[in-house]
Amino acid sequence: MDKYVVIGNPVAHSRSPLIHARFASQTGASLEYSRLLAPLDDFAGAASSFFASGGLGANVTVPFKEHAARWVDVLATPAEQAFAVNTIFLDRGRRIGTNTDGTGLVRDLEDNLGWSLGGRRVLLLGAGGAASGVMGPLLACRPDRLHVANRTPDRALQLIDRFARDSGAAQLASSGLAELPEMEGGFDIVINATSAGLNDRVPEMPGALVVGARCYDMVYGRDTAFCRWAREAGAAAVSDGLGMLVEQAAEAFCIWRGVLPETRPVIAELRASQA
Ligand code: ATR
Repeated sequence: MDKYVVIGNPVAHSRSPLIHARFASQTGASLEYSRLLAPLDDFAGAASSFFASGGLGANVTVPFKEHAARWVDVLATPAEQAFAVNTIFLDRGRRIGTNTDGTGLVRDLEDNLGWSLGGRRVLLLGAGGAASGVMGPLLACRPDRLHVANRTPDRALQLIDRFARDSGAAQLASSGLAELPEMEGGFDIVINATSAGLNDRVPEMPGALVVGARCYDMVYGRDTAFCRWAREAGAAAVSDGLGMLVEQAAEAFCIWRGVLPETRPVIAELRASQA
């Protein structure tokens, strides 16, 4: 059987095995997709033994996305831009690292939610690995403006500097969260890429910024702290990142198997199990 894994630490909570099992049965693929708990100090050892044992592909999750970027032989453009790998595949014996998170986010926003990005004013909160992983695909959608705001302003500045050449027609700007101007109605789409929600917190910023905006939390959960906060502050619509999770998996599946699976039934199933 063709073997795939998701490598992380912790990894027991990962929904990826269920998602890929659904994709496999939809497309008639015979494959085994399991969880691989790698030691915090030995991603390379765990990944090497998996591929040496005949594994065909891997997803990579927290905290190993940068380790994986150093471990692979070649970085495909999205992973090179992000310096973070969430999907590894083999090509003539070489390990290629790519990143499907940005594609997953954009597909969920545009195709599933109908929140088109072209010509919009977008605010991205956070400047860590999660934010850098989605910058390239967000810019490729040609927003009017992409503003990156981070608690530590220097990191936001460094992030936009890395993408200055790929910004296309978009105005690219950065600031600290505290320096975000109180522009009611200033942004159409606000995306939370911080890890604040892991501690049930929200980035500290003026609520006026999300009034009338569509707010997306890249973290998933029944009602995340950011979704709750944004709704109460007057957002026009809110969504968690469950659709992004399924869409990034679908893109990885397509890279490995050459078929793009149907995501909507899988999103609906996971959504029902959250209720
Ligand atoms: P990840 O790979 O999840 O992005 P990371 O690289 O550690 O993880 O980055 C975490 C991001 O969440 C950073 O942008 C961080 O802000 P700082 O750069 O100022 O540390 C942000 N973050 C974490 N907790 C936060 C909080 N309580 N409020 C605002 N931002 C927070």
